[in-house]
Parts: sequence; C-alpha cells; structure tokens
Amino acid sequence: MTEMMLKLKKIGIIPVVVLDNADDAIPLAEALIKGGLPCAEVTFRTAAAEESIRRMAKAFPEMIVGAGTVLTTEQADRAIDAGSKFIVSPGFNPRVTKYVLDKGVPMTPGICTPSEAEGAMELGLDAVKFFPAEPSGGLKMIKAMAAPYVDLNFMPTGGISPENVRDYLKYDRIICCGGSWMVKGDLIRAGKFDEIEKLVKEASDIVKEIRG
Ligand code: 3PG
Repeated sequence: MTEMMLKLKKIGIIPVVVLDNADDAIPLAEALIKGGLPCAEVTFRTAAAEESIRRMAKAFPEMIVGAGTVLTTEQADRAIDAGSKFIVSPGFNPRVTKYVLDKGVPMTPGICTPSEAEGAMELGLDAVKFFPAEPSGGLKMIKAMAAPYVDLNFMPTGGISPENVRDYLKYDRIICCGGSWMVKGDLIRAGKFDEIEKLVKEASDIVKEIRG
C-alpha cells in the first residue's frame, strides 16, 4: 500500500464534498481539520471544484486533499495542477486511470464487480474504491470479492452512514470509507461550519473507537 493509502487508513473516513462556491473551501477545510478528519474528496461535479482544491491545498499543505468524480484526463490534469494528492473516479476507466498513475499520482477508481477488480489489478492497483457500496452489496460483497483477490484493498463509498460505518471499519481489508453525511450541501451553503465540525468530530470519534 502506498504512503498515501496508509495516511488515509489512519484517518479512516474521507468526507466526500460537493462545493458550489470556492469561498466555502477554507472554512470547510478548517472544520474538517478541527473535527479530526484532515482530508477531503472534492468532487469535480461543480465548476468550483478546481479552485476549491487549489485554495485548500495551498492553505493547508498537511491536509490530504484529493479530487473525486474525475471522469476525463482533462479533469485529472486540472485536479493535479490544483494540488490534488489523489484522484478518485466513480467507475473504472482504464485509460484515465493509467493516465493518472503514469503521472505518479495515486488513483482509486471505483469498481463493484470482480471483472473491474481484475482490470484495476492489471494496472498495478492494490486499492480501489468500491462504489456504490451499499446498493452493490455492501460489506458482504466486499468480503466475497476480497476472498479471491487477496492483495486488494477497498475504499467503500455510497450509502455509508454513522449507522453502518463501524462494520466497514472493522474489516481489515478496508482502507477507509467515503461519505457525505458530515458535509451535506445544505450545511455548507448555510455556512454552518460549526455544525459540520461537530459531525466530523463524531465521525472521527467512531474511527478512534473502532481502530484505536
Ligand atoms: C458520492 O459520490 O456522492 C459519494 O458516493 C457519497 O455518497 P453518499 O452521499 O452516499 O455518502
């Protein structure tokens, strides 16, 4: 596992963020750091993603800021140029994945089938996003896939919540879980960063409870 993956394993939960306004990036990053999850997957679903990553990465170099929902090599270039330390995609696009890996940047493409797992492993990956986790069979499916692929590790995202995250975190083949429950768009738009910090703290307390 790469050094980046080991850092993410220590953090345990990656907040998956949709930012409409780059002015929210710094207060959000402060809430994540103060709450105990100093990382973010900033999704390329909005025009503000690139600038948000740039601001967070510049202001908080110690924070692990990555880009999510990266669907094209052009988006990957913009995300990396903005300071993304890792790249995530919802599905497995071998061309985009190879492009990012060849640049020396960690990438975890999303997979939810054995065939996709084998495609990712063929590119040298030992860690993949498992997406959408709950609709695709959740922990049961991850354990079934982990059995034959003994060197593959998972980052489940999609439908993870404070109610089910403990079970995922207990399984040693899971690096970390992604989730949006602590960084909901309505809280960000309303500027409720104290509330976000509280939810982030509750999430990081769960990681401590399970992983010590
Ligand atoms: C996403 O792509 O939005 C992530 O999978 C987050 O999923 P969640 O909202 O179910 O946590």
